[in-house]
Amino acid sequence: MENPFSYSDYVYGAAFCDRANEQKDLIYYAQNSQNVLVYSHRRMGKTSLVHQVIRRLKKAKPKVRSIYIDLYGTLDENDFIDAILTGLTQIESKLERILKQMAGLKISGSIDPMTNLPTISASIKPMEKPEYLEKALNLLASYSTKQKLLVVFDEFQEAAKYSEEGFEKRLRKVIQGHRNISYIFSGSQKHILIEMFDSAKRAFYKMARSYPLQKIEIRHYADWAQKLFKKKNVNVAKEIITDIVERCDYQPVYIQQFLFDLWRSATVSLDVLDEIEKSIITSQKNQFIFLWNLLTQNQKKALRLLAETGGESIYAAEQLQRVGFNSGSVLQRALMSLVEKEILSQNGMLQFQDAMLKKWVQSLS
Ligand SMILES: Nc1ncnc2c1ncn2[C@@H]1O[C@H](COP(=O)(O)OP(=O)(O)OP(=O)(O)O)[C@@H](O)[C@H]1O
Ligand SMILES: [Mg+2]
Repeated sequence: MENPFSYSDYVYGAAFCDRANEQKDLIYYAQNSQNVLVYSHRRMGKTSLVHQVIRRLKKAKPKVRSIYIDLYGTLDENDFIDAILTGLTQIESKLERILKQMAGLKISGSIDPMTNLPTISASIKPMEKPEYLEKALNLLASYSTKQKLLVVFDEFQEAAKYSEEGFEKRLRKVIQGHRNISYIFSGSQKHILIEMFDSAKRAFYKMARSYPLQKIEIRHYADWAQKLFKKKNVNVAKEIITDIVERCDYQPVYIQQFLFDLWRSATVSLDVLDEIEKSIITSQKNQFIFLWNLLTQNQKKALRLLAETGGESIYAAEQLQRVGFNSGSVLQRALMSLVEKEILSQNGMLQFQDAMLKKWVQSLS
């Protein structure tokens, strides 16, 4: 029987667990043309969630059409415009119609050999970017006159890094007039996104409702996994799922990896979890070493201290001395730079964003 668990791409259908409330909210916002900012740490399930919502909107009443635009890898306004035009092919099968609407622009359409999907790229002179940005966005809006439209900009934090002067302002000016479109801005570099949407100085201030993605509760993971394991007549005790979820610190990507391996395992018991954990850490080891090598000596010490103590009394003199910090402020600076790099997160207390990285760092000492 095919393994129902998956951890290499976004998940949908049976591999997708819960998020019932989130789906309900986002569907409601889409049907009512409300803009939303969906954010979380890396790999918490944003892309999976929006794809799930898009699939459900196709059958919902009222139905909403959707365009999913991935901004990952876009570097400037020209790439952003290309991404919109390419995204439009999801609802407009006649490429010529898109090309015609953008008349005056040197555009080429092709089929991406990797995905087999159409891609559009335009070459735009710097002076003409504002004009074509507006045209591309209004072309989007032209598909929302008879039916509501959802437009997802995934990895939206990339847009904050474009160098064109006034890009955000121009983007805002056009999309705020789009009454029949719900925009989902989704991304993971929280500090960039929050600054973009919550700072009164920025163009996107109050442009979208903030929607931080929370963790999925253990009972939902249990119901979901137990149901899938039933398909091959295996009963999984709730304590096994609880153990897995806690080992993974609620990170769905690792929970999927655990369950994928557990599905393969001849025995389904607490005893095999240590082995699976070891193999997951081994599979990530090269990435961890790469990241570790980019850190300064103080950052490495700070990570180690945090991994060893769980954050308990790290500023106590003996702790500082043990890892070789002269003062608490040096430690604090190192910790803050790790938050900045999104290796740690700070929700009241400092935590590793990646549960397996924490275990790997623990294994170093
Ligand atoms: N609702 C879910 N149910 C089960 N597994 C999930 C769920 N959401 C995410 N996952 C797991 O987490 C992995 C990452 O999900 P996804 O790519 O959607 O996250 P993301 O937040 O978009 O990540 P990134 O920040 O890298 O873009 C998926 O491959 C899947 O294994
Ligand atoms: Mg994603």
